Amino acid sequence: MTGIRRYIRFYVGNAYHELATIAPTRTLLDWLREERGLTGTKEGCNEGDCGACTVLVVRLEGERLVWRAVNACIQFVSMLDGAQVLTIEDMRAPDGSLHPVQQAMVDHHGSQCGFCTPGFVMSMVAGRKAAGLGQDERGIDDMLAGNLCRCTGYAPIVRAMRHAMQAGPDHFDAMADDMAARLRTLRDGTTVDMAGPTGRLTIPATVDALAHTLLENPDSRIVAGATDVGLWVTKGLRDLPHVIAIGQIADLRRIEVTPQGLFLGAAVTWQEARAALAEILPQPDEEVFRRIGSVQVRNAGTVCGNIANGSPIGDGPPVLIAAGATVHLRRGDTRRTLALEDFFIDYGKQDRAPGEFVEGITIPVPAPDTVIRGWKVSKRFDQDISAILGAFSLTLAPDGTISNPRIAFGGMAATPRRALRTEEALAGQKWNDATLEAARAAIMADFTPLTDMRASAWYRSTVAANLLTRLYADCGPQAARVPTSVHAACTATGDHAHG
Ligand SMILES: Cc1cc2nc3c(=O)[nH]c(=O)nc-3n(C[C@H](O)[C@H](O)[C@H](O)COP(=O)(O)OP(=O)(O)OC[C@H]3O[C@@H](n4cnc5c(N)ncnc54)[C@H](O)[C@@H]3O)c2cc1C
Ligand code: FES
Ligand code: FES
Repeated sequence: MTGIRRYIRFYVGNAYHELATIAPTRTLLDWLREERGLTGTKEGCNEGDCGACTVLVVRLEGERLVWRAVNACIQFVSMLDGAQVLTIEDMRAPDGSLHPVQQAMVDHHGSQCGFCTPGFVMSMVAGRKAAGLGQDERGIDDMLAGNLCRCTGYAPIVRAMRHAMQAGPDHFDAMADDMAARLRTLRDGTTVDMAGPTGRLTIPATVDALAHTLLENPDSRIVAGATDVGLWVTKGLRDLPHVIAIGQIADLRRIEVTPQGLFLGAAVTWQEARAALAEILPQPDEEVFRRIGSVQVRNAGTVCGNIANGSPIGDGPPVLIAAGATVHLRRGDTRRTLALEDFFIDYGKQDRAPGEFVEGITIPVPAPDTVIRGWKVSKRFDQDISAILGAFSLTLAPDGTISNPRIAFGGMAATPRRALRTEEALAGQKWNDATLEAARAAIMADFTPLTDMRASAWYRSTVAANLLTRLYADCGPQAARVPTSVHAACTATGDHAHG
């Protein structure tokens, strides 16, 4: 540790701010609107769903400026140390002309009542800045999935985005060197520790500083991306007396290939992890990780936060369990590694001692003959929580014999859990109609799901079995030939697995 700073500092637009007293859970949205008078950023849902509050957070990573759209309603001001925040008020160029995205929204009638418009504009500006986002129709849909509009029907907005993607540089391009130089001055490698009106904020500079702070303050609360914790504050109205913000700890932002597999540090976001995950888990990346929240949520939310949160309907754990991931835990200077499935003990209970934290996860690189699949089943394609998520890994010998089956489900029990009886029904068997039927029966014995607002117990059990059929149709040796009896069963039970 090179010293302690008693305040946080960041830019909003071109204005430099130092804050020595702020509640660690003060949301960026409230602060912008109530203390800065920047009311162009709107409050819609206050829970990360509607995108009306979208702002850009720009950071200097290495020597590269990285632009991210995030939901200001579930970002805490305390997480912005060292960043530049841009709001809709910053989008006009210094000469007063509209940003190319704003101009495209005008030209293509992308706004009616206008309430959602600032949020859309911010997502579109971020999309232009982020390589690989919004380059094609699907990319545009993905980029705008986190913004809701009640008026326009989206077609004009999508047209505006298509044109904005082709438009020339904006005024930020000309300012990039200045922005980088400014952000460079905010780098000091210092731990922040400050007292606010409702609690204490610590931003450890290193993972060692984190380990010791947590050991000394086991009742403190780690905040990574705040996409779960933010809702405890905005909807649960909870105060957190001591927040430890870990999102910018360099040691925790590592994405590395090790002899054991792909390592993701605890501060790696879903959006950052996706390219590496897609390399080893291409189908689950497409079917599951692409559908975690929205760009704004994936830009803030971390893979390890999804695990540490321990939700039975988190989308990451079932896929990562099926893939054989391990979780690395650290308490003080003591480290241990667990199979990910063993981390989840019961509803709301994980194998994590006071003062212990998740340092990262490792996902083994699948062998070439291993098939890994995951399917998220939810009422909407975008921005929805899973009713059920099934993830499957198995190795198929050339003669169709199954080995090493690993099957995990979310939404079927109090924790993300393996389907051990189903695995037993598959292991060593030939992948054929009879084995599928045996596995479908076994899955009923594996789980006794609940009925809740997302799905009935009957629906969950039926879909779980039907996902096995889907696996069989998708990658069994008889791929594409689903047996008639199973097909009839699917139809009768109303399988809308990809609904
Ligand atoms: C609009 C919206 C949509 C969403 N959609 C989805 C979805 O489709 N699928 C899905 O699975 N989730 C979804 N989520 C939930 C959330 O985005 C994910 O769970 C995310 O991965 C959480 O990561 P985070 O970094 O934001 O966690 P945080 O909110 O920062 O933390 C979550 C919990 O984990 C703890 N924690 C975080 N990091 C560590 C660590 N390193 N060690 C120990 N404890 C730690 C925190 O103390 C807290 O208890 C959604 C959330 C929102 C707001
Ligand atoms: S106000 Fe709806 S996402 Fe923030
Ligand atoms: S223009 Fe009215 S909500 Fe989008």
